[in-house]
Amino acid sequence: WAGPVAALVLGYLLGSIPFGVLLTRAAGAGDLRQIGSGNIGATNVLRTGRKGLAAATLLLDMAKGAAAVLIAEALFPGTAVLAGLGAFFGHCYPVWLKFRGGKGVATLMGIVVALHWPSGLVYAAVWLGVLAGLRISSLAGMTAAISAPVSAAFFGKIGLVPLLLALALVVIWKHRENIERLLSGTEPRIGKKRG
Ligand code: G3P
Repeated sequence: WAGPVAALVLGYLLGSIPFGVLLTRAAGAGDLRQIGSGNIGATNVLRTGRKGLAAATLLLDMAKGAAAVLIAEALFPGTAVLAGLGAFFGHCYPVWLKFRGGKGVATLMGIVVALHWPSGLVYAAVWLGVLAGLRISSLAGMTAAISAPVSAAFFGKIGLVPLLLALALVVIWKHRENIERLLSGTEPRIGKKRG
């Protein structure tokens, strides 16, 4: 049982690195949790006006999810899914931020890419497509997250479906304030000031 537990812990620790908060602070752009939506993800970093920082946050949040899966699988074969689970919850509920973490979209993208790259490709395409079409990050993220169990099922990766379905539901739960704003028509679009 040591391997699975180690994979879970390794995943959690990697996932819990709050790159958005760290990069924003290092750049002297303030405390991300006091800006915009207060979320620690790339979308909110973009609201500081620092596009490079936002891109770096997106890439690093994805990379930590992928790295958790790949490193755990290399060290303890058969633990990829557990490491992904750990990384996702590390990002969404990091002990360092009193468990108030992100919404999981970028980290889940990295996890899905590493677990089954064709589903990861669909995830990225759905995310980019909705983002380009509507410019609403939360909607793009939730749609992409839901695409993951659907693609895994489509590609015959049935073993991944329960995990990806559960994580997509957590992504939606984490977006509950965004959903309220979407329903009331007040969710801000990317590239525009919050109304
Ligand atoms: O990944 C987070 C994104 O979907 C929403 O972020 O800051 O608009 O709540 P935010």
